[in-house]
Amino acid sequence: MKGTVQEWHLVARPVAKPLPTDFRLVERTLETPAMGEVLMRNHFLSVDPYMRVLMGPPQPGVPVYALGRPMTGGAVGEVVESRAAGLAPGDLVLSDLGWRTGAVAPAERLTRLNRVAGVPDSAFLGVLGMPGLSAYVGLTEIAKVREGETVFVSGAAGAVGSLAGQIARLLGAKAVIGSAGSKEKVDYLVGELGFTAAFNYKDGDVRDLLARAAPGGIEVYFDNVGGDHLEAAIDVLNVDGRAALCGAISGYHLSEPPPGPRNMVELVKKRLTLRGFEVGDHMRLHPHFARETGSWLAQGKLRFRETVEDGITRAVDAFLGLLEGRNTGKAVVRI
Ligand SMILES: NC(=O)c1ccc[n+]([C@@H]2O[C@H](COP(=O)([O-])OP(=O)(O)OC[C@H]3O[C@@H](n4cnc5c(N)ncnc54)[C@H](OP(=O)(O)O)[C@@H]3O)[C@@H](O)[C@H]2O)c1
Repeated sequence: MKGTVQEWHLVARPVAKPLPTDFRLVERTLETPAMGEVLMRNHFLSVDPYMRVLMGPPQPGVPVYALGRPMTGGAVGEVVESRAAGLAPGDLVLSDLGWRTGAVAPAERLTRLNRVAGVPDSAFLGVLGMPGLSAYVGLTEIAKVREGETVFVSGAAGAVGSLAGQIARLLGAKAVIGSAGSKEKVDYLVGELGFTAAFNYKDGDVRDLLARAAPGGIEVYFDNVGGDHLEAAIDVLNVDGRAALCGAISGYHLSEPPPGPRNMVELVKKRLTLRGFEVGDHMRLHPHFARETGSWLAQGKLRFRETVEDGITRAVDAFLGLLEGRNTGKAVVRI
């Protein structure tokens, strides 16, 4: 036996917004690692919007989390003991084992990470991890943003959105417009991240707010929100415009599917392309992403923030806070 760990289990499927009672913190005694396994301790856990979708209720084609079991999800930790080739004590590793302080796990569930000077280890859950790659894929592979274009990013102060807006500029966009849920976030986008314009979507009708912020229209929409934001973007997309559909967080809590955009005929009139993507399908771009992002970070061209909650007991609260917009940049839990 190698001591105990704590892990969060989903114990009830949320109907709309998750409740703290849908989760339970469980203590588990660890076994000694078998051949091919390692004992690892986590330093940072990721809380992400997709987890809400995996909590259910089940939808066609979406495998949901089992009840009474730990949920999968990104975490960065350190190998404590290894019986696996290629992993040694002290190695920094990325796992998908979810909200837990540590685990005994087969080596194939772990990816060894090379620390990046000047960047915290938690960045492998954000700017250097899945959210960063999502921003990069959406702009380069899906919307194929070009020099001189105007880009609109919704959910712009979050993990993916804050990077998408900056990467669009680095790829040559002439202007980047962002939407977010508070004045502080809007000030952050324009004042610190170099967005050309931004608005608080809670200040009025998103169609009006976006039309005012983008008087010349947009060529690219990076969608994190769906719903009213997607409808507003379809309005202002110029002829041959493209949208990369990354997420639709405005609908994740709804018990009924949200209504579709009412202006779909604009897709025909303006020859628009709306394309969804799953970042996991584009891992071949990871080396390009890691090289370019590493270089932008080293040159101080890419900024990022994290909203950090301390302690495994705070994981559920950090997750609920993410859904309510309490985070700026990547939301993580430090163990
Ligand atoms: N396709 C993929 O492979 C992929 C990969 C990663 C993420 N995603 C998606 O990308 C989106 C962003 O993910 P993230 O990790 O970067 O999360 P995030 O933006 O860091 O956090 C979620 C944010 O969503 C905003 N929000 C919550 N409810 C909203 C609503 N009803 N309307 C508008 N905004 C709302 C909140 O900010 P405000 O204060 O601004 O409301 C909150 O901070 C999500 O939709 C996620 O599912 C997709």
